[in-house]
Amino acid sequence: MPTLVVVGAQWGDEGKGKVTDYLSAEADTVVRYQGGTNAGHTVIAGGREYRLHLVPSGIVHGKVCVLGNGVVLDPAAFLQEMDELAAQGCDVGRVVVSDNAHLILAYHKALDRSEETGRGEARIGTTLRGVGPAYRDKAARIGVRAGDLRYPDLLRRRLDGAVAAANQALGQTEFHSAALADELLALAPRLLPLLRDTAELVNQAIDRGDKVLFEGAQGTHLDIDHGTYPFVTSSHPTAGGACIGSGVGPTRIDRVVGVAKAYTTRVGDGPFPSEELGPEGDLLRERGGEYGTTTGRPRRCGWCDVPVLRHAALVNGLGGLCVTKLDTLSGLSRVRIVVAYEHEGRRLTGFPHDVDLLAQVRPVYEEVPGWSDDLSGAQRFEDLPATARAYLDRVAELVGVPVVMVGVGAERGQTLPRESMF
Ligand code: IMP
Repeated sequence: MPTLVVVGAQWGDEGKGKVTDYLSAEADTVVRYQGGTNAGHTVIAGGREYRLHLVPSGIVHGKVCVLGNGVVLDPAAFLQEMDELAAQGCDVGRVVVSDNAHLILAYHKALDRSEETGRGEARIGTTLRGVGPAYRDKAARIGVRAGDLRYPDLLRRRLDGAVAAANQALGQTEFHSAALADELLALAPRLLPLLRDTAELVNQAIDRGDKVLFEGAQGTHLDIDHGTYPFVTSSHPTAGGACIGSGVGPTRIDRVVGVAKAYTTRVGDGPFPSEELGPEGDLLRERGGEYGTTTGRPRRCGWCDVPVLRHAALVNGLGGLCVTKLDTLSGLSRVRIVVAYEHEGRRLTGFPHDVDLLAQVRPVYEEVPGWSDDLSGAQRFEDLPATARAYLDRVAELVGVPVVMVGVGAERGQTLPRESMF
């Protein structure tokens, strides 16, 4: 199968970078279709660590890497990331950016900060990277796109309008469009050679029979439509976003796989039914090293949440689950799974869309035996202890989606595929 979408099945940080890097060995082209510098994808290969925010994780394998139209691009951060990757020995010569990708500019970051402060207790816990305000400008049709850099007069006109709106919202004349235009045009000599009609490029790759991998950022429950609104990001991490964010029709997508940790984490605010606020949560955080790659914030932790994964299976059409960080659960005498939610004594079917209700539900647990073995050296799925395999089988059964890959450590090689993905 030549096209494959990789999505986060939980609230982001599931290990999509590692899975995408692993699958990139077989792919020809890797496409990021949404999000911006709010994402933090980590790849560890050959003892080296690569931290990616915008560039697709296929870069470590030197594949054609596309930042699609659905991405919001912070130009200076992007160029810095390209330089860092080049300094680490990555071939960045095949990275291309959509003409239609919207830019994150300084005023978007200022707006993100001032709006988060203004929300007080109701804050979303954004990454403060300007992502929400940039997507808002896009929807309001006052955004600035990468392709606008080709036309300095047009760029200046667009910036005049957008900066006036931002200054008004900020209540002060903080930003000057002429200075911002000059700063952007100074970056143009590096950015313009990378710009393409990426929808055409990706469709041509599919026409040739190339293997194309679409890499989602964030996760299903941070999707602006399918997530725990308003505690979400402003884009579409779900599989449908791959079509919109790259200009590829739904008929051209062959397969969708979801990445999920063997437990659950969330960073930022919003309801999280399986969250463990006591020692079990602390244990998962410390063992799993659950601190944000982008912001360093401690992540909220809890057990595997089946209603979350079932919802992800539903809205993404998942054909398989890649379960990461199974090694984090080693050494526990028992492992818990949230199999359902209850509210006022009633067992709920489905995943509540009302965040107030979601904040009140009580998890219903099932316990399965744990395993003490160190999993980090496992080479094949069959090498896993029987209790670990039984845990994965039970999760697959409850979610209704087979486990097709398992991660047992951060290194690229600590990945156990059960079948070919393409
Ligand atoms: P924003 O995307 O910065 O606007 O943040 C909105 C919400 O999404 C906040 O709860 C963030 O913590 C969360 N978020 C954004 N990007 C990521 C990510 O890559 N991993 C995990 N959470 C994220």
